[in-house]
Amino acid sequence: MEDGNGLKPMDAEQLREQAHKMVDFIADYYKTIENFPVLSQVQPGYLGKLLPDSAPTYPESLDHVLKDVQEKILPGVTHWQSPNYFAYFPSNSSIAGFLGEMLSAGLNIVGFSWITSPAATELETIVLDWLAKALQLPHDFFSTGKGGGVIQGTASEAVLVVLLAARDKILRRVGRSSLPKLVTYASDQTHSALQKACQIGGLNPELCRLLKTDSSTNFALSPDVLSEAISNDIASGLIPFFLCANVGTTSSTAVDPLPALAKVTRANKIWFHVDAAYAGSACICPEYRHFIDGVDEVDSFNMNAHKWFLTNFDCSLLWVKDRTALIDSLSTNPEFLKNKASQGNLVIDYKDWQIPLGRRFRSLKLWMVLRLYGLEGLQTHIRNHIAMAAYFEELVGQDTRFKLAAPRTFSLVCFRLLPPPNSEDNGNKLNHDLLDSVNATGSIFITHTVLAGEFILRFAVGAPLTEVRHVNVAWQILQEKATALLVSS
Ligand SMILES: Cc1ncc(COP(=O)(O)O)c(C=O)c1O
Repeated sequence: MEDGNGLKPMDAEQLREQAHKMVDFIADYYKTIENFPVLSQVQPGYLGKLLPDSAPTYPESLDHVLKDVQEKILPGVTHWQSPNYFAYFPSNSSIAGFLGEMLSAGLNIVGFSWITSPAATELETIVLDWLAKALQLPHDFFSTGKGGGVIQGTASEAVLVVLLAARDKILRRVGRSSLPKLVTYASDQTHSALQKACQIGGLNPELCRLLKTDSSTNFALSPDVLSEAISNDIASGLIPFFLCANVGTTSSTAVDPLPALAKVTRANKIWFHVDAAYAGSACICPEYRHFIDGVDEVDSFNMNAHKWFLTNFDCSLLWVKDRTALIDSLSTNPEFLKNKASQGNLVIDYKDWQIPLGRRFRSLKLWMVLRLYGLEGLQTHIRNHIAMAAYFEELVGQDTRFKLAAPRTFSLVCFRLLPPPNSEDNGNKLNHDLLDSVNATGSIFITHTVLAGEFILRFAVGAPLTEVRHVNVAWQILQEKATALLVSS
């Protein structure tokens, strides 16, 4: 048989030429990113009207496709990397993260077991140990201890896998028929990822207790409230087994008191998980490390490097104190995956620490970020955003028409426009209208939350391109739109 002249999907010279074009396209995108409306202004279904209804039969040129990206795809993109993006939490991109992603795509390995690419497993172990050290995590969380770190796709997967490990651990003790009696605890500020994990884990949804918080604790979980809930549940014959605490809640970056909560979980033999998806990154700075004091008492700890750590999505870092609990829950050992290194217990097989079998070489991008920026560069990145958020907080504080709605701890400012005296809904509609009108400008993008029944605006600083001038313009837009709304209300 002769080699045909047909499709060459991985020809090195074609790759070189086309990848250069793509890099140029992306670099131009970043150069002009401020020209796009931050929040995409398209209507649902817009793309179906612009693209054909069948896949092309014959190959097209990259230039042709890139023209469509420019004209048809980019209008439907919300620009998370825009310096005027202040919504949700940031999802950092960086040159280092991007290069790591590129390399990972280039190698395109599937690293489920050590043997499938020893470097993928070993680099992951090394960078997670590096970061455990930078965060001053307890020795058990290192690969040389009883636990270790693993890269998950998202914080949702992280909480799911530890919840499953905790579930199976307690069920081994009390019997599988007790599944309907297991109780999970968290504050009412906890991310909905926990509820989803409980649903997937087959737990009784009514026994996922989201304990009430209020402004008296700055929306942090009270250890007394937790203790009382546990006592009541035990008295009713239920089995408390899991606490998810937060360092940096999604609504307002509330920080739960880890040491005091740990006393309660220890006394009741409950798995203690910490969700520090956003704020964990800040804890590499000595001045913010105290927010995770007490972490030596917890069973698992999670932070998203893809949020505020210059590592392109997705890259969620999970450390566990006892890796056997995770492996006991998640490992399988089919014949077709058997190999000497795994059978001899000489290596880590990360397939046993996660839900899927296949896994990407994600540690490359984290390694690239750590090497090209260093811990010092990352600390500067974090501090810069926190300083800009403090500045924005000051601006809000100077305008008596607004109030700050929760203390600012990291780089998120929660605030609202004060309602006029005759307001029937305590200004909730007014603030909703303010949100809609600033986002409709396309010049900035912010999002909202509800705290103690009040509709609150969230201003999250964290995009790598954001500078003070962007914060100033954002505040000016907010003030102008507030003036217009107050005049018309
Ligand atoms: C505190 C917190 N936990 C969990 C999540 C869920 O993150 P992921 O998308 O990585 O599952 C978020 C998302 O913003 C979050 O803010």
